[in-house]
Amino acid sequence: MQTTQDTTAEKSPGSLTGRPVISSTGLFTPEESITNEELVESFNAFVDLHNERNADAIAAGAVEALHHSSVEFIEKASGIKARHVMSKAPIIDPETMCPRLDDRDNDEISIMAEIGVLAARQALERAGRDPKDVDAVLCAASNMQRPYPAMAIEIQEALGIEGFGFDMNVACSSATFGIQTAADYVRAGNAKSVLVVSPEITSGHLNWRDRDSHFIFGDVATAVLVEDAAVAPHQHWDILGTKLKTVFSNNIRNNFGFLNRAHPESAGDADKLFVQEGRKVFKEVVPMVAQMILDEAERLELNPHALRRLWLHQANAGMNRLIAQRVLGHEANEDESPTVLDTYGNTSSAGSIIAFHLSSDDLKKGDTGLICSFGAGYSAGTVFVQKAA
Ligand code: COA
Repeated sequence: MQTTQDTTAEKSPGSLTGRPVISSTGLFTPEESITNEELVESFNAFVDLHNERNADAIAAGAVEALHHSSVEFIEKASGIKARHVMSKAPIIDPETMCPRLDDRDNDEISIMAEIGVLAARQALERAGRDPKDVDAVLCAASNMQRPYPAMAIEIQEALGIEGFGFDMNVACSSATFGIQTAADYVRAGNAKSVLVVSPEITSGHLNWRDRDSHFIFGDVATAVLVEDAAVAPHQHWDILGTKLKTVFSNNIRNNFGFLNRAHPESAGDADKLFVQEGRKVFKEVVPMVAQMILDEAERLELNPHALRRLWLHQANAGMNRLIAQRVLGHEANEDESPTVLDTYGNTSSAGSIIAFHLSSDDLKKGDTGLICSFGAGYSAGTVFVQKAA
């Protein structure tokens, strides 16, 4: 297997345009799904067990009693009704409450690479692209199951792609940062075809015992094929412009790292899982992202009110409603700002790509739209696109 940068682009400079487009996308959805009703039933059973087992300590004031979750709260606060997961039974077992994914031998494909490959194959098929003609694979996701070898290189190997691959993590903005990185390779002539794969097994970083956030996340994998316009299929999306932004914030944080280990069973190590100040995130990120979109539309000389569709990050229905309203100048309907939150939950960086994948075929030649992510860091990314045919 060759892992150095391919120089195909340099071999035929005359034939390439340096104009990046989205040739296709792919989606893998886990079969299993947890409804809010199932989730709340198991959470409340865990709460009852905890309060029963700690009754004396709670009465003495040494341990805090836990409170029930509610289906109504979850749906009203987030818009989420269900989430797909890779490992349902242990998550809704009140004695376990986290996914249990068996370790695999080193000669078996890892689970992140496996679901990434499934999404990537679909993207390749939809573009009619032979893997041999892809130059690079970026595995862009908010969590990696190991530091090395890179999941991207494993995906590259499984698909039979020559060239190079690497992993990158920008939390919920990993996919849009990946798209800009891929687009920059095309713009620079360093690659003509780049796969951006986002396997998001977010159930592994969610604290399923935390009432404030136990309902937020779900699992999925997406893939985006970014190519030079010269090699792209007839049906593609021109990339009109990409913009990235980061602003440091502790309001979404996960302290897990190679110098420590997550122990979901131990309350003392809850910071090794996803932690957030949801209200602050809501208040700070909405204006930041809306302004970023408006500024970038102005730079690209696009009328934001004329955007045909927004494929926004899928974290919270209320945030999306407010951002879409500020960008479009009116309350957006489902056609203008589709949501997949109800069935997928928050799938981190994959959310806006799922929305784009599921709700873009009906647009017409010349229609413009926006893929936009926002999340931990803070990080935000915009990809303005136009349907080419
Ligand atoms: N069931 C029932 N009640 C709950 C609950 C649950 N699961 N979780 C919290 N509550 C209660 C709280 O105790 C609080 O009660 P109080 O008012 O008596 O103190 C009340 O509901 C409101 O809690 P709060 O956490 O302020 O809710 P919220 O309206 O801010 O909604 C989020 C919570 C997380 C859904 C929302 O803040 C959000 O989505 N923020 C943005 C998150 C985001 O995008 N993060 C990015 C992740 S990548």
